[in-house]
Formats: sequence, C-alpha cells, structure tokens
Amino acid sequence: MEATVKLNNCYESVKGKLNGFVPKVALVLGSGLGALADEIETVAVIDYSEIEGFPQSTVQGHKGRFVFGKIDQVPVVIMQGRVHFYEGYSMQDTVLPIRLMRKLGAQILFLTNAAGGISFGAGEFMLITDHISTFVTSPLIGSNMEEFGVRFPDMSAIYDRKLNTIIQAAAKSNGVDLKEGIYLQATGPNFESPAEVRMFRTLGADAVGMSTACEAMVANHAGMRICGISCIANLACGLSDNPLTHDEVMEAADKSAPMFKVLIKSAVANMKNELC
Ligand code: HPA
Repeated sequence: MEATVKLNNCYESVKGKLNGFVPKVALVLGSGLGALADEIETVAVIDYSEIEGFPQSTVQGHKGRFVFGKIDQVPVVIMQGRVHFYEGYSMQDTVLPIRLMRKLGAQILFLTNAAGGISFGAGEFMLITDHISTFVTSPLIGSNMEEFGVRFPDMSAIYDRKLNTIIQAAAKSNGVDLKEGIYLQATGPNFESPAEVRMFRTLGADAVGMSTACEAMVANHAGMRICGISCIANLACGLSDNPLTHDEVMEAADKSAPMFKVLIKSAVANMKNELC
C-alpha cells in the first residue's frame, strides 16, 4: 500500500477513538522504559494491533500500544514500545508512528532509548544533542510527503536547544547528573563488533543504539521540535569484558526506570509554556 494511504488509514482509525483529544507532546519509550505510561492520567489506550496496517512491535520489553493522556495537564501520546527497522519493516513503516502522532497534533517529540555507552557507563543518562544516522537508510527516501515538509530538509539543529535547557533544569532539580552527547543509530539487531565501536568513537559518537535517529529525522522534516534521552544500559561492545545480551539491557533499563520516570515527567510538565 502506498505510504500516504496507509498513514491516512491509520490516522482515521486512531482519531476516531480519541473523542476530540489532541496530544501536544509525543513520547517514545524505549526498551524496558515503558512503565511511565502506566502512571499518567489516561484518556485512551490503543493497541497497535487494533490499527489496520500499523507495524507491530515484536520485541520483548516493548508493549506495543499508544497511551493517550495527560502529564500534569500536558496532553501527551505515549508509544509504549516502538517499531524498529531491524524487525524487518521498511524504513517508511518504521517511522509511520511518528508521522501519525504529528498528524494527530503533536508539536514536540520526546524520544527515549536504551543505548550502549561509548563515552558513558551503565546507569547514566545522556541528553541527545545531535546524531549520526549515516549507517541506516534515510527515512526520507522515496517521494516526498509534501504535507509534512520539503524535499531537502535542513538538519543543522535537529535537537531543540530550548527543550534541552528545560530537560537539564528538570534533571538538576531532581538530582540527576544528565550527560550530553551524540547518539549513533546502527541497524541492529546484532550488537556491534569492538572494531565498529572503536570506529563510532572516532566518528564522534558517545552512545550507540538501534533506533531514534530515523524518528528524529522524520519529525524534523515534519516541523516538530525534538528532544531525546538515552539510558545507557551497558558499555558498548569491546569496552568491557562481558558479552552483551538483551537481558542485560532490560535489567539495566529496569534499574534506571524509577529515576527516568521522574525526570521525564518533570521535563514534560515544564514544557507547558512551549506549546501552542
Ligand atoms: N548497542 C546497540 N544498541 C543497544 C546497546 C548496544 O550496546 N545497548 C542497548 N541498545
């Protein structure tokens, strides 16, 4: 099915279930970080499986549903579980949820993920200040979706400075030492080799993961304001002696979850004045 038609079908199906609710901030919760969605004032919950044509999340630790509601009066849509390119979806399908949330009214996209640390260790949080997406195909390849943005979008300031200041302030008031750095998206699903991690470090990456940059690019194309936080789940391959497992990533995300929830809720509440 053509990408625009599929998106419009998903949009009609979701919009029809929202009784006029318009989300302003879209949050994508990464591996093991979905619990935040269980704590908000909920307006509607829609499983991805209820939306015809919508890609399904197949990863352990990703629930696969939209939760609509409010965080301290800010209307939000939360993706409790994202869709990854490595699950076998086309890049167009992988980013469809972002365009859908944009169409539903979201102005800000708040991305989160679990990532491997290159400059930082397990348990640390990294505010994303820029990304490297060169190792995955661009989500903007194909006919340009004019309703969202231009053919050749500028990417000189993908992650919004003002939002980053708000997040840093929230971190400070909650006693979180929030690092800052560059996120690199690899395709996954395999973890990287030590030589790749050394290369990524040389290229300027501070953390590596399997998502996020493609979502940020599509949101940037569509005129959204973007911010993102990586929860460092492990030292990237070759930087410690241990082989990596998804269980280790999930365990680390579990440990970070309580502080992560406080940080995100407080940051979103402070974004109130940024919305129109
Ligand atoms: N590499 C890629 N993705 C990841 C990692 C990693 O080390 N940890 C969590 N997600």
